Amino acid sequence: MTTQTAIALTTIAAPLTKIQLPIPAPKDNELLIKMTASAIAPFDQKLRDLGLFNIGSRLPAVLTYDLVGIVSKHSPELSSTLAQKFPIGAHVMAQASLFNPVGGGLQEYTVIDARFSALVPKNIDDVEAALFPINGFTSFAGLFSSEGGPEGKHHGLGIPFPGMPGSSNFNYANTTLAILGGGTRCGKLAIQFAKLAGIGTIITTAGLNGAAELKKLGATHVVDRHAKDLVSQVRSLTGDGLVYVYDTMSQGDFALPVSILSNSKKGYFSHLLHGKIDEKVLESKKGGVEEWQMNGASGFHPKLAELFWGKIGGWIEGGLNGGGVDGVVEGLGEVGAINKAMDGLRDGGFERWHVRVSS
Ligand SMILES: NC(=O)c1ccc[n+]([C@@H]2O[C@H](COP(=O)([O-])OP(=O)(O)OC[C@H]3O[C@@H](n4cnc5c(N)ncnc54)[C@H](OP(=O)(O)O)[C@@H]3O)[C@@H](O)[C@H]2O)c1
Repeated sequence: MTTQTAIALTTIAAPLTKIQLPIPAPKDNELLIKMTASAIAPFDQKLRDLGLFNIGSRLPAVLTYDLVGIVSKHSPELSSTLAQKFPIGAHVMAQASLFNPVGGGLQEYTVIDARFSALVPKNIDDVEAALFPINGFTSFAGLFSSEGGPEGKHHGLGIPFPGMPGSSNFNYANTTLAILGGGTRCGKLAIQFAKLAGIGTIITTAGLNGAAELKKLGATHVVDRHAKDLVSQVRSLTGDGLVYVYDTMSQGDFALPVSILSNSKKGYFSHLLHGKIDEKVLESKKGGVEEWQMNGASGFHPKLAELFWGKIGGWIEGGLNGGGVDGVVEGLGEVGAINKAMDGLRDGGFERWHVRVSS
């Protein structure tokens, strides 16, 4: 068999459609995997409907970047260490590469980079495993990366993860971190990673319905994200001392995340969505602000990614919570259901659907 079924984006702002594609041959550090599960994330909807990342110039494109599957073939160049770590038949999880337009999860087979992959831990199934690759690595890097891809533009906050360079002198217990959008899956993961690192004060903003859950995950304070006096509520907790803000949901206008930063000390601000800092707000930050647009591709943060992919399985076995799956599409035959899940995200919903590509 040399060809396979894929569900692809062939026209921007139109439904995905079924096409045939060649089965790729793994090269360099790659593994060919038979897809078992993938996730339809907000990013996929933005690619489909808005043509983000100029994806329209690389069509047809196979979307969904959380990949889970069974190792089917090793690249001839794969190191023996990676080949032993990921034997044929092993269930693995990884991110698809943004640079491979036909590398996504909505097809029978795809290739993954074995350096940035992990075995699926025994306490979850493949459908659940698709919660972790993108959101897990993005929030991990959002807090702990000081790498950052081309021109270093996609840094995280640069807090050294314990064991990484700079960590021996870092006072985790005395550190305060604000995670805006703590109710998102990325936010929940960030809270748990901050707790794992031993950060003493973790303030988050979210809908208060979920406050108890966020406290269980590790937030020390939950502030209502709808509150009109949100800035003063956070400032009443931090004084003028807050220097780290990780933001999963602010978009367009960054007045809120920057306002809560210290006016006198240098602040660090890493965010997942695009926006601008209001000049007036920025002027009040006498210590300056370093701002980073996160990009959660492992290849942009290779040193941190090596640590993450080595540890993620153990963290999941220890109870890391990926935020849950709202529904499962059974197979690539359900093209209508796949498009419907994306339509829900387009229309302002937050339901996360995973696709059981094969069982
Ligand atoms: N840059 C990157 O590399 C990267 C990587 C991954 C994801 N992302 C992006 O990050 C965003 C979050 O993704 P996700 O999958 O984690 O989200 P998600 O799980 O779908 O988030 C849903 C939750 O967000 C909260 N929320 C809704 N509107 C909000 C707002 N205006 N401000 C703050 N919180 C709000 C709500 O919870 P509560 O009501 O409980 O607060 C809602 O239940 C998406 O836009 C995604 O595309 C970017």
